[in-house]
Amino acid sequence: MRDKFRARHYLAMQDYTAEEIRYLVELAADLKRKWTMREPHEYLRGRTYGMIFEKKSTRTRNSFHAAATALGAQSIYLRPDEMQLSRGEPIKDTARIIDRYFDGLYIRTYGQEIVQEFAQYMKNPVINALTALEHPCQGLADLLTIKEKFGEWKGVKVCYAGDVYNVCHSLMIGCGMMGMDIYVAAPEGYEPVPEILACAQQHAAKSGSKVIVTRDFDEALRGADVVYGNTWHSMGENEAQKEKRIQDFMPYQINAQAMAKARKTAVFMHCLPGYRGEDMTDEVIEGPQSVVWDQGENRMHTVKAVMVATAV
Ligand code: CP
Repeated sequence: MRDKFRARHYLAMQDYTAEEIRYLVELAADLKRKWTMREPHEYLRGRTYGMIFEKKSTRTRNSFHAAATALGAQSIYLRPDEMQLSRGEPIKDTARIIDRYFDGLYIRTYGQEIVQEFAQYMKNPVINALTALEHPCQGLADLLTIKEKFGEWKGVKVCYAGDVYNVCHSLMIGCGMMGMDIYVAAPEGYEPVPEILACAQQHAAKSGSKVIVTRDFDEALRGADVVYGNTWHSMGENEAQKEKRIQDFMPYQINAQAMAKARKTAVFMHCLPGYRGEDMTDEVIEGPQSVVWDQGENRMHTVKAVMVATAV
């Protein structure tokens, strides 16, 4: 399996098969075990990775730094405003130069076409640290967390309530791949990208699960094992519509009443950052069903798996 990944870009969950995603999650679980047992795992000793973040980040950026250090590699933050990119140097020129210096690039940006262009001009792996279309590193951490909490994926029901966007897209595909039912609860007018919905539903048809987009929050919550929240206004994308979005999404707030409609054994997940009083309440994130800190930690173990698997 390792040979299938070598020098491969990790741009989207939809580019991978269910077997490949399963392999990455299993590798992450093994790396987590080593990290927990303080077993050395410096598989990337002497390598150097570049990082470009055009948007803010706490988890994605810092988990990558920590992951690189634990793997014996260095990660160097390339400030977009200090690079010639900001003065109009073409991506294809930047990409070919970066490729000569670094063993890989981790990039958070706007359109998927930007990471695709970097990938087109780089032989070393490009890893998507979030675009408008997908957040595939978050998707892996979500799968690992669910596996840890339930011991398996098949048969788990996920209720997702939040912006129907990158995180939701990767989660839909991951659930479809692994045989989990996912109900995306959102108001009228907030829909997944059709190609993502189709991809997730194709995987679900194979794995025997369901990918449903519904206006009915109760239907999504009924029997849910995972209640997954996300912001209602995605960073740098639709913040101008913040007030309208808060109004539209308020019936989908994950509060104690909503959690009570899911299974008693349900866990609360959230990619974070979350907005208490909007997409969830303080009592839910701080409550006994919340697994958000484990989920956040898993960002580090899963990105390590991507780095190790894709390294040239
Ligand atoms: N979940 C996530 O991507 O968090 P950051 O924006 O803090 O990286």
